[in-house]
Amino acid sequence: METFQALWTSEMADGKFETSVHTLPFSTLGEQDVLIRVSYSSLNYKDALSASGHRGITRDFPHIPGIDAAGTVVSDKRGIFRAGDHVLVTGFDQGMNSHGGLSEFVAVPGDWVIAMPEGLNARSAMQIGTAGLTAGLAVQALVGNGLRPESGEILVTGASGGVGMIAVKLLTHLHFNVVAMCGKPELDDTLLGLGAKRIVRRQDFLSEKPRALYPMQFAGAIDVLGGEVLVKLLKSLQYDGVIAACGMAAGIDLPLQVYPFILRGARLIGIYSADTPLARKQEIWQLLAKDWSIALDDFTTEISLSEAPQILNELLAGRSSGRYLVKI
Ligand SMILES: NC(=O)c1ccc[n+]([C@@H]2O[C@H](COP(=O)([O-])OP(=O)(O)OC[C@H]3O[C@@H](n4cnc5c(N)ncnc54)[C@H](OP(=O)(O)O)[C@@H]3O)[C@@H](O)[C@H]2O)c1
Repeated sequence: METFQALWTSEMADGKFETSVHTLPFSTLGEQDVLIRVSYSSLNYKDALSASGHRGITRDFPHIPGIDAAGTVVSDKRGIFRAGDHVLVTGFDQGMNSHGGLSEFVAVPGDWVIAMPEGLNARSAMQIGTAGLTAGLAVQALVGNGLRPESGEILVTGASGGVGMIAVKLLTHLHFNVVAMCGKPELDDTLLGLGAKRIVRRQDFLSEKPRALYPMQFAGAIDVLGGEVLVKLLKSLQYDGVIAACGMAAGIDLPLQVYPFILRGARLIGIYSADTPLARKQEIWQLLAKDWSIALDDFTTEISLSEAPQILNELLAGRSSGRYLVKI
């Protein structure tokens, strides 16, 4: 076989970007340790940014997007994996400035590759994908910093998204008292069904006039929004509260005085799943495969590669919900 199919993002003459399925020569993939035949990938917000030409994610085009991939090894130059081994790759540079997993094949450095954990397969691993790994890292940050179900309410922002829905369900699985901040009223029942105890609207949360500190409310939070929501959250934490900050869908600035840290012992933990060291990724994947195993079918939509460009546009516009699994 000399060619393969992949999603291909190109810059047009008018400076706009177009993403569609293309047939490409194998030389496109370049020389890497491990060649993987991809059977499933997934869609994440970062893929939407890359496929729309966002230079902060991908500098050079044309490009194959896709930060997630799972499938079987075709070859490993290092001789560590054998042909047919089931593996997954999430993050590192995959789908950013290296060609990604929305493709029949991906070629990657060996130290990006994780042997498929027992209990998962390519499909279930990609239902989880980077979104689930990120939610897992965030939950580990909360638990590792002392939060327990009896600590109090945990707020999950961007709750209708991939990270958000998995975080709501995972925290519920671990018996936490979860509050979901959701911008889509039509998904309230879904989130309550996943285990959220109540729903908060962003505009209501932000409606109070600015203060240095607000009454103590949440024991912790998993935040994908950043900006003024994160600021208000920090000012509304209980004493010794913990926030795992993993996104900036609503803003990058953090205008803040030090009061939440000095007067209430607030802890703000940053999460970046892509460059999390392989050993820590493996640890979280093991948890997601066993003790933290949760059913994701209720909010996963399986799509084909050719359907991905349209869904990526929806993701970018904040109109999508849940997880998108891509069957290659
Ligand atoms: N740090 C990391 O390692 C890491 C890893 C994965 C993702 N992330 C980040 O986490 C965020 C969520 O990722 P995801 O994969 O869950 O994305 P997603 O499925 O697209 O969900 C994002 C959610 O954020 C909310 N939102 C509010 N304002 C938005 C806006 N202006 N644009 C888009 N969404 C908006 C929406 O939920 P509501 O309508 O419910 O408010 C939306 O469903 C992204 O910013 C992503 O870059 C970070």
